[in-house]
Amino acid sequence: MKTRVMVIDKSAVLGEQLQEAARILRDGGLVAFPTETVYGLGANALDEEAAKKIYAAKGRPSDNPLIAHIADPSGLEPLVQEIPGAARKLMEAYWPGPLTMVFSKSSVVPYGTTGGLDTVAVRMPDDPVARELIRLAGVPVAAPSANTSGRPSPTSAEHVYEDMNGRIDMILDGGPVGIGVESAIVDVTGAVPILLRPGAVTMEMLEKTVGRVETDPAVISPVKADLKPRAPGMKYRHYAPKAELVLVEDEEWERQPKAHMTAVSSRVTAAITRLALEKAAVGKKVGIICTDETRQKYPDEGIWLRSLGTRGREETIAHNLFAVLREFDSLGVEAIYSESFSRDHLGQAIMNRLTKAAGYHIIKV
Ligand code: TXA
Ligand code: MG
Repeated sequence: MKTRVMVIDKSAVLGEQLQEAARILRDGGLVAFPTETVYGLGANALDEEAAKKIYAAKGRPSDNPLIAHIADPSGLEPLVQEIPGAARKLMEAYWPGPLTMVFSKSSVVPYGTTGGLDTVAVRMPDDPVARELIRLAGVPVAAPSANTSGRPSPTSAEHVYEDMNGRIDMILDGGPVGIGVESAIVDVTGAVPILLRPGAVTMEMLEKTVGRVETDPAVISPVKADLKPRAPGMKYRHYAPKAELVLVEDEEWERQPKAHMTAVSSRVTAAITRLALEKAAVGKKVGIICTDETRQKYPDEGIWLRSLGTRGREETIAHNLFAVLREFDSLGVEAIYSESFSRDHLGQAIMNRLTKAAGYHIIKV
């Protein structure tokens, strides 16, 4: 299959430019498009055959459900059995935006989209290209992240091209995304909302809007083999670079989350340096994930050093995370040592992705 790439100017989205992409979606084809979180791989959410093509293109297990994307709030009602009160508050506060909610599904949503579940995840993205595309398609658009299953999510059209060229009909290139980590997912089917995946709508923001919110155990720790996580995707090795990734964390600093965000102890930088040099000494290609504040503390020869940006701006760290993991992949790095971050606010999403990418391999110093 030939994959067409169409460049779209996000600041002046022209409907006629997107007509062709919308037609592909209506006809059961696949179009990758930018959202504010990561690039999505879209298909008609109401067409089971189209959804199957998504699973094939990504190499994704078919029990891992897709998020249905809508262009405006009125698109929600037909897809769900009911809209609970908490969901209404959250929609009002955070849609359009990086928040996905899980509802009991209506009969129009096929099981091929929901991985056989009786629930459906729905999100209204805040990206002008995504919104106009969905509006023109006239159907809800099922879209997982547009990466090969198991690889870091794509934050630019180039990342999508790397993974999807020849496998999908079209890529809409709207430039780099804004946020860089996937949406927060909240299950609103029960009495108390449950956070299934942290994102840029943070736990603190959710609680401010609806009061108590629980956290699914799969957010924090590995999913036990005999347990079914509420978000099926959380059980797969996710966001993973090809290299072995190890996080290094200072036990003491963990108890002072804010200090931990803006600085890193010399115990961490010393441990990372030692581990990296040991690996390099046995002939491995080694990478270090650091921050602008710590860059100078590492050896600058024989090791690939990449900064996620300044610790003063969690948004920058989140934005650069997947691109750095992908860059290490393309450099052929075999072992990566990374600093850690605080686990509150956006840090919760950053650490969730980092610990999963590391297969929960964390060295405490
Ligand atoms: O930011 C995002 O959410 C991006 C952009 C493209 O919108 N999409 C995205 O989709 O990250 P994906 O498929 O890569 O991740 C969706 C996650 C998976 O872990 C999946 O298991 C979970 O959402 N999920 C989808 N439907 C669900 C449902 N009905 N119940 C529980 N979890 C669900
Ligand atoms: Mg994904």
